[in-house]
Amino acid sequence: MQRIRELLEPRDIPDQNEVVPAPTTTYRVKPLVASDLSSLMRLSVRCFRGSETYNRETFEYLLREPKVLAYQAVTTKNDIVGFMFVLINKGQIAHVTTIAVAPEHRQRGLARQLLSYAEKALISKKFESIVLEVRVSNYPAQNLYSNQDFVIIQKLSSYYSDGEDAFLMSKSLV
Ligand SMILES: CC(C)(COP(=O)(O)OP(=O)(O)OC[C@H]1O[C@@H](n2cnc3c(N)ncnc32)[C@H](O)[C@@H]1OP(=O)(O)O)[C@@H](O)C(=O)NCCC(=O)NCCS
Repeated sequence: MQRIRELLEPRDIPDQNEVVPAPTTTYRVKPLVASDLSSLMRLSVRCFRGSETYNRETFEYLLREPKVLAYQAVTTKNDIVGFMFVLINKGQIAHVTTIAVAPEHRQRGLARQLLSYAEKALISKKFESIVLEVRVSNYPAQNLYSNQDFVIIQKLSSYYSDGEDAFLMSKSLV
């Protein structure tokens, strides 16, 4: 039984409560490209441990689709430690599908940096607002968004496949 548990829960993924903060470094944001797929998938599993993460097909689609803005945050060693995707195919409204930061690099302003990078790109493309969904239980993400002037506009019942509700949040860019 223990062996099966180990196979299901690889030991190189630290428990959220055991995260050791990464040494201080500086970060920069740059576009994600197709060749980042493997490192992106490894990071995503670590970021969304215990909840849904995109599968390979979804990431491949997001990385090749022209109507998606895809960004990564990297360290000075060029290691990917954060990412986000924004759909830009609906009129003047952009849709953040996901944003995540490696556990050991959290609470250093990286998600804020990714959001503000995307916002600048969206403003230059004349987008008027951004929307996103967030789990009602995801307080860190809700805090992040409300601190960045997103407001809750609707509660979406049973939005996620496990039955959890979502808040639909929106931010005006004009
Ligand atoms: C949500 C997440 C992206 C935040 O990333 P981060 O880089 O740690 O966030 P930042 O350091 O940029 O924080 C910006 C703001 O977010 C809020 N925030 C971030 N982490 C928080 C936490 N653990 N508790 C409460 N608020 C938090 C704060 O308001 C913070 O502002 P402050 O530093 O002035 O207090 C990160 O926790 C994560 O990857 N979580 C797992 C994936 C996920 O849930 N993604 C969102 C899906 S909708």
